[in-house]
Amino acid sequence: MAKKVGGPEQLLVEELQDLFDAEKQLVRALPKMAKAANDEELTNALRQHLEVTKGQVQRLEQVFQSMDMRPRSRPCKGMQGIVEEGQQVISEEREEGIQDSAICGGARKVEHYEMVSYESARSLAQQMGMRQAAQLLDETLREEIQTDKQLAQISKRLVKGTSSGRRTESASRETSRSGGRQSSGRASGRSSSRESGGRSASGRSSGRTRLSGRPLTDHEEIRRWAEERNARPSCVKRTGGRGDTGMIRLNFPGYTGEESLQDISWDDWFGKFDEKNLALMVQDSTATGERSNFNKLVSRQTAQQRPRTRAAG
Ligand SMILES: [Fe+2]
Repeated sequence: MAKKVGGPEQLLVEELQDLFDAEKQLVRALPKMAKAANDEELTNALRQHLEVTKGQVQRLEQVFQSMDMRPRSRPCKGMQGIVEEGQQVISEEREEGIQDSAICGGARKVEHYEMVSYESARSLAQQMGMRQAAQLLDETLREEIQTDKQLAQISKRLVKGTSSGRRTESASRETSRSGGRQSSGRASGRSSSRESGGRSASGRSSGRTRLSGRPLTDHEEIRRWAEERNARPSCVKRTGGRGDTGMIRLNFPGYTGEESLQDISWDDWFGKFDEKNLALMVQDSTATGERSNFNKLVSRQTAQQRPRTRAAG
């Protein structure tokens, strides 16, 4: 197909060549970002997106083929800038939770850049009646939107976690809510164990509700604590695979988000627990003396940093 200088087709080709380079840059950058992230959900999201990105490179090759063109890339300066910024973030020393927020923010910048680029390319392809190309570009656009949504949720949680350690007022408000939910013995979506670098049970347990967390790392102790509450070792579905256990959780009977979890053996659970250097923050009883299911997976470093005592309130 002949190139028409300055026409919409050339614009589309340039956009595609740009994207082809951008995606390949990301295939190199995403493993570094995943490695630098402390939060397991973020790490897994980045790893999953790496696989998706590899597929997107292939899909772009199909787009070129549908236009009877050989896939070629041209340096995408925009992506280069965002990736360089991301590498800068990784190299800086920060608190775990803040570091994760920064990595997540960088990843979202990537997604937004791609979303706009794919949207432009898809519109141009549609305009020129290139149905197959438009359809392929639309598929990738949807994947990028989905990834951004996922990252936005993680970011929201991370930012909350970061600020809960700093603002005692809001932290104690939050504990009042989550403590009440868990004390009912019906672990809700947020009260199955969650992993986070920047947030811990003790960080949240302050003030009014007088809940205190203690960190557990001993396998026997953890197992006993869980079994007393009929909680089963589990992982979040679709976060593992190929010999990887995925994101571990404790599954409590009646937990409303049960369908998102799958049972695993204690051996696998502890394997991941030790590999990720985690500690389980737990509460034994609520302020009113009922048995508490409150638990949270945090890094051992975080567990050590946070005092076991309640914050003044
Ligand atoms: Fe992409």
